[in-house]
Amino acid sequence: MTLSIEFLGHSGLLLDDGTHRVLIDPFLTGNPLATRKPGDLSPTAIAITHGHGDHMGDAAAIAKASGATVYSCFEIYEYLGEQGLEKLEPGNPGGKIEAPWGWVAFTQAFHSSSLEGRYLGQPCGVVVHLGGVTVYHLGDTGIFGDMALLGEIYKPDIAAIPVGDRFTMGPELGARAAEMIKPKVAIPIHYKTFPVLVSDISAFNPKGVEVWPMSPGERRHFGA
Ligand code: NI
Ligand code: MN
Repeated sequence: MTLSIEFLGHSGLLLDDGTHRVLIDPFLTGNPLATRKPGDLSPTAIAITHGHGDHMGDAAAIAKASGATVYSCFEIYEYLGEQGLEKLEPGNPGGKIEAPWGWVAFTQAFHSSSLEGRYLGQPCGVVVHLGGVTVYHLGDTGIFGDMALLGEIYKPDIAAIPVGDRFTMGPELGARAAEMIKPKVAIPIHYKTFPVLVSDISAFNPKGVEVWPMSPGERRHFGA
């Protein structure tokens, strides 16, 4: 099992097993820390955690240009269908969707989800299994005790955890989340992008979990 993980800034991740690429929450246009342009990316699949602009972001444009299949909750699936996208896989928390390259599962997240006043369903976290590696991207969420259960069920190798405070957990609660989920590696996300989010995440120090503080544009490998 081996997977390359590129941090795209904010909550964006690009997972690549050498054959397939799964993009999560691509927010590049309007992201002051983004190092990539939407046209640079040619994913196999895109997973969206919720409808806020800093997550759904460039997903529709990238999907149109690349032909990627988009995985999302039901209401975002309906919305993207209205935008003319056809390769769409709807889901919702608790369900797993088999893919030609692995699988996607949605989890609950405590947050909101809307775009320009339109309700876009329940906000989610997403678990992606690619290249034999399991990545749990929490989306935007507050802390909840069932993170421990989700950790037991999915046994993620990597968890991407929002730590920017105000709209999600901050660094201390993010560390508590990592300690409940117990991944091998935690990647802090959703901080520093905008002045309202914290920049200093030195308190994100979960016990027993390796932290990868990734800079936008940085790529690391997990596994052999
Ligand atoms: Ni949000
Ligand atoms: Mn957000």
